[in-house]
Amino acid sequence: MKFHDPKNLAFLNALIISGVYAVLFIISVAILYPGALSEPFAWSLLVISSALLFLITWFSFRYTLEKFIYSKIRLIYKSIHQVKVGRDERPAHRHDHVLIDTVQQEVEQWEAEKAREIMQLKQLEQYRREFIGNMSHELKTPLFNIQGYVSTLLEGGLEDPAINREYLVRTEKSIERLVRIIEDLDEISQLESGHIRLNLSRFDIAALTREVVDFLEMKATKHEIRIVVNYPTKPILVEADREKIRHVLTNIIDNSIRYGAKKHGTTEITFFDLDENILTEITDNGVGIEPGDLPRVFERFYRTDRGRAVTRKGKGLGLAIVKHILEAHEQTINVRSAIGVGTTFGFTLKKGI
Ligand SMILES: Nc1ncnc2c1ncn2[C@@H]1O[C@H](COP(=O)(O)OP(=O)(O)OP(=O)(O)O)[C@@H](O)[C@H]1O
Ligand SMILES: [Mg+2]
Repeated sequence: MKFHDPKNLAFLNALIISGVYAVLFIISVAILYPGALSEPFAWSLLVISSALLFLITWFSFRYTLEKFIYSKIRLIYKSIHQVKVGRDERPAHRHDHVLIDTVQQEVEQWEAEKAREIMQLKQLEQYRREFIGNMSHELKTPLFNIQGYVSTLLEGGLEDPAINREYLVRTEKSIERLVRIIEDLDEISQLESGHIRLNLSRFDIAALTREVVDFLEMKATKHEIRIVVNYPTKPILVEADREKIRHVLTNIIDNSIRYGAKKHGTTEITFFDLDENILTEITDNGVGIEPGDLPRVFERFYRTDRGRAVTRKGKGLGLAIVKHILEAHEQTINVRSAIGVGTTFGFTLKKGI
């Protein structure tokens, strides 16, 4: 028997009341009219009056309980439903007897949803805190450098030919770094707000890769990294924004050089024909990325400890821009990595027909 059902509750109450009435009836008759209990009339009276009392109390309890409970629950149900479906939609009509079960189920579901939302909000809050920490760290370094150089120059360094020019050059470099951070952030916010229009065209991704590799050749040689491109025999046509994809390739290949192996470093670039897309993979044999860092390297200003140990130059913005550019193309980027073995970044582009 479900006791949260008003029908059952009313039945039980009526049963108790008529039971108590019957017992009192028997006791009173036995005291007031001894011997009357042997008359069938007394028992008939008892049965009829108890049955009547049972019916009256059962119906009145049921009516009052249902009216009271349902009016309260309907109100709760309506508020939950309004939060869930939004103000414009009205909850569908439900029969009262299923209302309590439905409300219970929906409240449980609601509770689970709220718990999930709270978790997500906590994660976002944590991400926001880390983001601000990382951003101030990246901005602080060049700003403190500039402050140091300018103070030294003002405190007499300006008249010292041994350092005056050198310090001005260093100041300029730090300013350039600040400008690049602001430019990258500007690009990210424009990509995020969806204000950037893609200038789509059909082009050969292998030819564009060759241009990017030529551009980064000097840097690769300086880091003793050999770049191997598995060029196909015919052009690989894709449909995308050529300049934005140049940005993507430059960022990923630049990372493979920056975080590449100190000795016998290689960066290998391969193209794969997936039915509707072209997958470009860039593999290095560098420092690698810890499994815990893998999903986070696309966040703004996120740098791995290994990455920071290799160089202080990174801003942690390159991959965030790359991801946004590919998302604007409705394409994907993925990364796999093993410490001491290397890292592979792969991104898809729509095939150009
Ligand atoms: N090929 C790679 N091998 C190992 N770690 C990498 C590789 N590519 C990226 N990372 C890690 O991911 C982090 C984020 O990369 P991202 O390109 O966004 O920033 P960055 O290279 O530090 O700076 P920039 O904004 O100048 O590109 C890097 O700091 C590094 O820790
Ligand atoms: Mg980078």
